[in-house]
Amino acid sequence: MINVLFVCLGNICRSPMAEALFRDMLVKENLTNQITVDSAATSSWHIGDPPHKGTLTILKKYSVSTEGLVGRQMKQDDFENFDYIVGMDTSNVKNIYQLTGKTNHPKILRLLDLTEHKKDVPDPYYTGDFQETYDLVSQGCRALLEKIREEHHLQK
Ligand code: 4NP
Repeated sequence: MINVLFVCLGNICRSPMAEALFRDMLVKENLTNQITVDSAATSSWHIGDPPHKGTLTILKKYSVSTEGLVGRQMKQDDFENFDYIVGMDTSNVKNIYQLTGKTNHPKILRLLDLTEHKKDVPDPYYTGDFQETYDLVSQGCRALLEKIREEHHLQK
């Protein structure tokens, strides 16, 4: 199994959106028997919480399932259990480095570095723009899946 973990600050806006979108791609491309996906927060603020209403609304707009999305905090042994640990912004990546003690490790990535944008995913908790975040997260998830396909020689 190839295990993917998306990480953001609260695990209620961006990383659950990425988890749901990425899972949707895995289902559509028959990859759920080869790749798993989860998400987590760097903070402890929303442990056990459902996603933000804005995230639920935009996922429903695109008919992406929101089943099983529950806030949790990232823990140290996630580093061993996941093959791709993908932060939404620079601050998330710094926090992942701190938690794991692994700086500049190839399995720790910033999502939009995999796209032409090479920037932070804007946090809709503050911007209020869930559409902008959805569009960028969607591009990032697509690019991540292509990277995984290449690195693991998974055929289309
Ligand atoms: P997220 O956004 O990291 O994309 O889930 C946030 C969610 C909650 C808070 C901040 C950002 N908060 O301050 O509770």
